[in-house]
Amino acid sequence: MELKQAMQERRSIRGFTKEPVPRKLLEEIIALANRAPSSMNTQPWHFHVLSGEVLEKVRKGNTERMLAGIPPQREITDHGAYGGVHRERQIEIAVQLFEAMGIERHDKERRQDWVMRGFRQFDAPVSVVVCFDRSLEDNGTIAHFDLGAVTYGLVLAAWDRGLGAVINGQGIMQSPVVRQHAGIPEDQVILTCVALGWPDESFAANSVKSRRRPVENAARFVGFD
Ligand SMILES: Cc1cc2nc3c(=O)[nH]c(=O)nc-3n(C[C@H](O)[C@H](O)[C@H](O)COP(=O)(O)O)c2cc1C
Repeated sequence: MELKQAMQERRSIRGFTKEPVPRKLLEEIIALANRAPSSMNTQPWHFHVLSGEVLEKVRKGNTERMLAGIPPQREITDHGAYGGVHRERQIEIAVQLFEAMGIERHDKERRQDWVMRGFRQFDAPVSVVVCFDRSLEDNGTIAHFDLGAVTYGLVLAAWDRGLGAVINGQGIMQSPVVRQHAGIPEDQVILTCVALGWPDESFAANSVKSRRRPVENAARFVGFD
């Protein structure tokens, strides 16, 4: 697949078949993502690739704690509530997803069900937990940038092989659960995770194409004729 096609057609995938993903394929994808640039070539990332029983335990722990009302516990500063244009874009994609899924605005039960799916990482067969070296915690936010680059690379490489993925904060919202079951070393900080698997073509939300503002709104050009 051409890079241009992958970048244009990729979208977050939130419904997966039960078919397992071969470890060899995951290794190939990670090898590609691993080529990402990083500040001073520090390569601060670590991938913990979870499947099977461990992933089920993470899902269960996440779900139980959220239902019990335990406040989210992340290892990086949470983004909090968005406002202004960011809130507008957040609502836009939520409306698109709910419309595709036929979830009515006032259907509290189905909306809650959708949120809980997120905490189960959309029942994906694989979850890649992305961490960075704790020793860089006092070096500003540049490691977060590096992890963003490597994670987008991972998602694109997965898409190129026909796999679908969604980067998600929900899956690591109860980070102590992930840390415990996945055995994340203390010298690493959990930043995000990527739910990954073979897209379920019949899952309506998978065809949602999120909108982007035009280039003239996202960029300005200085010093051109
Ligand atoms: C840092 C980050 C965290 C995200 N967390 C979630 C999440 O918790 N749940 C979810 O459904 N999608 C999550 N997403 C996916 C975004 O909603 C998605 O990328 C955005 O709406 C644009 O849609 P697209 O990926 O289909 O282009 C996250 C994406 C990023 C980059």
